Amino acid sequence: MTTTPVGIHDLSFATTHYALDHAVLAERLGVDRDKFYLGIGQEKMSVAAADEDIVTIAAAAAAPILERHGTDNIRTVLLATETGVDQSKAAALYLHSLVGLPNAARVVELKQACYGGTAGLQFAAGLIARDPAQRVLVIAADIAKYELDSPGEPTQGAAAVAMLISADPAILRLDTPSGLYSADIMDFWRPNYRTAAIVDGKTSVNAYQKAAQEAWSDYRRQGGRDLSEFAAFCYHQPFTKMAYKAHRHLLESQGHSVDAARIAAAIDDTTTYNRTVGNSYTASLYLGLASLLDHADDLTGKALAMISYGSGSVAEFFGATVQPGYREHLRTEANRAAIESRELLDYDRYRELHEAVSPTDGRYHATAEQTGRPFRLSAVSGHKRIYEAR
Ligand code: COA
Repeated sequence: MTTTPVGIHDLSFATTHYALDHAVLAERLGVDRDKFYLGIGQEKMSVAAADEDIVTIAAAAAAPILERHGTDNIRTVLLATETGVDQSKAAALYLHSLVGLPNAARVVELKQACYGGTAGLQFAAGLIARDPAQRVLVIAADIAKYELDSPGEPTQGAAAVAMLISADPAILRLDTPSGLYSADIMDFWRPNYRTAAIVDGKTSVNAYQKAAQEAWSDYRRQGGRDLSEFAAFCYHQPFTKMAYKAHRHLLESQGHSVDAARIAAAIDDTTTYNRTVGNSYTASLYLGLASLLDHADDLTGKALAMISYGSGSVAEFFGATVQPGYREHLRTEANRAAIESRELLDYDRYRELHEAVSPTDGRYHATAEQTGRPFRLSAVSGHKRIYEAR
C-alpha cells in the first residue's frame, strides 16, 4: 500500500516584544552568569508585554502562513498550549477575527504540557491521511512562567510556532512509526488556581531522560530506524543543555561511544533560537526544528529524529525527512528578525511584568500599550478578552 506523504508545508514562529538577558538575572540572584550561559545553556528569555498573551503570539505566528497559502481546505485548526486564556473556549477561536480563519473548520485547543504540539502534528497527519486534499493549521504557543527567585526562573521564555500540515509537504515529511511512552508522574504541573508552574527540577530532568529512552525503545520495537541513520536530533528544550543531556543519556543507554564532538554535531544547530528565546513549552521542539533548518548545511533527503516530551508525562520519538527544495520555503530572515527586534528589559521592569495580576472584577480595563508586534490584547471587559490587529 502506498501512503500519501504528509508533513510540514510551512513553518513560522513569533515571540514576545521583550526579553531579559540572563546576566541581569544572575546579578540579581548573586550567581555566576555562566551558570546560566553555560550550565543550563540559556543567554536570554522572551518576556510577554502587558498586552501580549498566547493568542497574540499565536496570531503573529499564523498570519504569515495564511498570507502565503490562503485558507482554502484548512478544515481543522489545532492550538496546543498549557498557557490557556480560558477554561472553556479554545484559544484558537480568538484567531478567527485576528487572522481570518475559515468558518468551515473545527477549531480545538490541545493540552498535555510541552507534548501538546506533537499531539497536534500527529492528529493533523491522521486527518490528512484520510483526506489528502485537506490542510491543517497546527499552532503551539506558550509563555513559560515560574516563581521569582525559584530554580525554574531562569528557564522561562515564550514563543509560538505555526505549522501548515499538508500532503506532499514542501519542508518536512513526517515518517512512521512513532515510539510512545506515557506515565502518571508529578514532575511539573500547574493547578488551575496558579499562574506559575510548580516543578521538581531534578525529578523532571531524570523523568525526561527516562521517557525519551523508553520512547526510543518503543520506536525500535515498532521497526524504526537505527540511531546512526539520523543526521540530527531535535529534542524538546526546556533549557538547551537538556537536549545535550538527553542525547548523551540515549547514546549511553544504547552502548554507543559518547564524545562531546559527536553530541555537538547532533544537537548544536537545534539550539540557536532556544538559547535566546528560553522555554516555550509546546513550541520549544518546533523552535528547535526551525533553528536546525535555518542553521544546518543542506539537509535535503536527510532523516531527522524528533523527540517530544511533556511532563506528567508523555514522550514521543519519531523520524522526519527533509524535502528537496526545502530551503526556498524557510523563513530564516523573519525568524531572526523576530528574535533580534526584542526590547531588552532591566530587572525592575521584568519583575513588574512578572508580578502583574489580571483583572477579575468584570469591569473595563484597558491594557497598557507596550508591544510593537502585529496583535495585542487591548482590554479585558465583562470578563472578555478584547484583541486588536494593528
Ligand atoms: N559555570 C558553569 N556551569 C555551572 C556554573 C558555573 N559557574 N554553576 C553551575 N553550573 C552548572 C551545574 O554544574 C549544572 O550542570 P549539570 O546539570 O550539567 O550538572 C547546571 O549549571 C545547573 O546547575 P544546578 O545547580 O543543577 O541548577 P539548579 O538547581 O538551579 O536547577 C534546573 C537547574 C534546570 C533543574 C532548574 O532551572 C529547573 O528546575 N528548571 C525548570 C524545570 C525544567 O526545565 N525541567 C526540565 C525537564 S521538562
